[in-house]
Amino acid sequence: MKKRSRNWLMVGFLTIVIAKYEEVEASRRLDEETNLDSDPTLQPHRTAYHFQPPKFWMNDPNGPMYYNGVYHLFYQYNPRESVWGDGKLSWGHSISYNLVDWVHLENAINPTDPFDINGCWSGSATILPDGTPAILYTGCDPEKRQVQNLAVAKNASDPYLREWIKSDHNPLLAPVDDIKGDYFRDPTTAWQGPDGKWRLIVGSEICGHGTALLYHSEDFVSWTKSHRPLHFSKRTKMWECPDFYPVSVNGTNGLDTSVIDRSSKHVLKASFNDHDYYVIGAYEPETDAFSVDTDFMDDNVQLRYDYGVFYASKTFYDNAKRRRILWGWVTEADGESDDTKKGWSGLQSFPRSILLDESGKQLTQWPIREIESLRTEEVNIQNKEIEGGAEFEITGITASQADVEVSFHIPNLDDAELLLREWRDPEALCRIKNASAGGKIGPFGLMVLASDNLAEHADIFFRIYKGNDKHVVLMCSDQSRSSLREEVEKTTYGAFIDVDPSQNLSLRSLIDHSIIESFGGRGKTCITARAYPKVAVGNAARLYAFNYGTESIVISSLSAWSMKPAQLSPLHERTKSQI
Ligand SMILES: *[C@@H]1O[C@H](CO)[C@@H](O)[C@H](O)[C@H]1NC(C)=O
Ligand SMILES: *[C@@H]1O[C@H](CO)[C@@H](O)[C@H](O)[C@H]1NC(C)=O
Ligand SMILES: *[C@@H]1O[C@H](CO)[C@@H](O)[C@H](O)[C@H]1NC(C)=O
Ligand SMILES: *[C@@H]1O[C@H](CO)[C@@H](O)[C@H](O)[C@H]1NC(C)=O
Repeated sequence: MKKRSRNWLMVGFLTIVIAKYEEVEASRRLDEETNLDSDPTLQPHRTAYHFQPPKFWMNDPNGPMYYNGVYHLFYQYNPRESVWGDGKLSWGHSISYNLVDWVHLENAINPTDPFDINGCWSGSATILPDGTPAILYTGCDPEKRQVQNLAVAKNASDPYLREWIKSDHNPLLAPVDDIKGDYFRDPTTAWQGPDGKWRLIVGSEICGHGTALLYHSEDFVSWTKSHRPLHFSKRTKMWECPDFYPVSVNGTNGLDTSVIDRSSKHVLKASFNDHDYYVIGAYEPETDAFSVDTDFMDDNVQLRYDYGVFYASKTFYDNAKRRRILWGWVTEADGESDDTKKGWSGLQSFPRSILLDESGKQLTQWPIREIESLRTEEVNIQNKEIEGGAEFEITGITASQADVEVSFHIPNLDDAELLLREWRDPEALCRIKNASAGGKIGPFGLMVLASDNLAEHADIFFRIYKGNDKHVVLMCSDQSRSSLREEVEKTTYGAFIDVDPSQNLSLRSLIDHSIIESFGGRGKTCITARAYPKVAVGNAARLYAFNYGTESIVISSLSAWSMKPAQLSPLHERTKSQI
C-alpha cells in the first residue's frame, strides 16, 4: 500500500492524487470497520478456508462469474450488523485468481434508488456478446414490491470491475397480472436461444404453486413475459433463487449456459423449504419446452444438492477450466445473539464442480481442484480393519482444519439388516439410528471435531441395509453431540446414496472449525453441517475413524491433510504480489 502511494505521487497528476486520497480514505474507513478480532482463541468458530466477508451478515451467493482472468463473487451483505435486519442489503463483492484466496472490494451495488431502496437482493451475472458484464438483480421498492433491475460494469477494462452503473430503464420487470409483489425474485443468468433472443427465469409462486417465470428479450433491457412459465410444481410453494443450465451426458466438462447441444440435459434448481431441490430434464430451445424426468416432490428423498445446511445456491460456467461451479450459502446454527457476539454470520460452501452422473439420474459434486493448494501435512492409512465397536484416532494433522478422504471396503454384505418399510425418510432414519445406536453393517465413518474424552464429536457415517432387490446405503451427518453448549442447533441430516456397496464406499469431509462439508460416494450425496464445539476447538480438536456395527469393515485407504488458511482480506491490506 505504502509503496504504491509513492509510485502514485511520482506520477504527479492532481486528479490521480485526489483519486488516491479517496482510495486511502475508503481504506481507512474499511480498516476502522474491519476490527474483527482475528485471534483464533477469541474466534474459535471462524473458518479458515471457507469464503467469508471480513465481518457482519452474508447470505446468498450472487452473480458469480469468470471475467478476463478474474473470478468474481458477489453476495447478499448487510454492511451494518450480523443479522439480516431490515433487509436493506447490498451486494458485497470479492475477487480471486484461484477461487481459494479472495480480495474483498467495496460493495458493488447499494440500495440507493427508488427501485431498490428497501434492498438489493439476489441475482445473476451474464456476459453480453460485446463483452460487457451485466447483472440482473431483485430490488425491493418503496412499496416493498419486488422488481428486477439491471446494472452493468462501468469500465469493462477495469480488471476488478469495481464500479457498477444501474440502468436508467430500471425497474426492467415489475410484478404484473397474477404475480404477487412479494413473490417475484432472483433472476437467473440469461441464455440465448437459436433465434438470438435472451431468456431468463425469475422465481415466483402462481396460484399457490412454485413457478419459474420465463422472460424473453432482444436487447437485454425490454423483456416480455412468456404465457407459459418454464416450469411449475403443484407440490411446492414459492421458488426462490432458481437456476437453469445444461449438463453434458457422460462428459467431464461443464457447459456454458447458452450451449445448445442435443446430447445435453438441463437442470432446474429451485430453493424452498430451506433446501435446494433440483430436477433433470430435456429442454427444447425453439419452444422453451422443458420436460422433466422426475418432477419436484418436496420430500426427503427428492434430489437435493445437499441434504444439510445449504441454500440459495448459484452456479456459473468457468470457461477458463471448462467447468460449472456451484456456490451455496451455509447459514449459522448458533442463534442470533451468538452471531452478534461473533461479529459475523454466514459462510459460502467451498466451490464445487458439478456434473451429471453417468447414470443420467442425478448430479455429482466435488470440491474444485484448487483446494489441494491448501493441503500441508498428510497422513495415509492403507488396508486397516476396524472391528465392530472400535474407533481409532487419526493423528498428525490439524483436525479442526482438514481435508479427509477415505474409502471403505465392506467384506461381508450378507448379514445386512433389513430396511423396514416405514424407513422411507432417510433424515428421520438417521435420527433414530444415530451414531450411538449400534447396528450390523455400520454405523461406520468419521468422527470429527471431537474432544479428548469424546464428550463432543460430530459423526459422518454410513449404514448398509438389505432392500427389496438390492442393498441400500444410508449416509448420515449426526451433530447431536457436536457441542456441550445447550443453545446451539444440533440437527441430524441424512440421505440415501445410489451406490453399490460391494464396490468400495468413499467419503470425503472438509472440516473447517465450525463447518463440515461431506461428500459420499464420490459426490453423489453431499451433506453440509455446522458444529460449535466448546472444547474441541483449535488444537484440541481430534479426528477418528469408527465402526459401531457388529461386522468388521476395512479402511481400504485414507488420506488426511492439514489445511492452510486461505488468504481473505480487503484490497488495502494486500501488496501487489499478494493479490
Ligand atoms: C478503465 O480501466 C482501465 C484499467 O484499469 C483504465 O486504464 C482506464 O483508464 C479506465 N477507463 C476509464 C474511462 O476510467
Ligand atoms: C454413460 O456411460 C455409462 C458407461 O459407459 C453408460 O452405462 C450410461 O448409460 C451412460 N449414460 C447415459 C445417460 O448415456
Ligand atoms: C440416539 O440413538 C439412541 C439409540 O437408539 C437413542 O437412545 C438416543 O435417544 C438417540 N439420540 C438422539 C439425540 O436422538
Ligand atoms: C477396495 O478395498 C480393498 C480392501 O482394502 C482393496 O484391496 C481394493 O483394492 C479396493 N478396491 C478399489 C477399487 O479401490
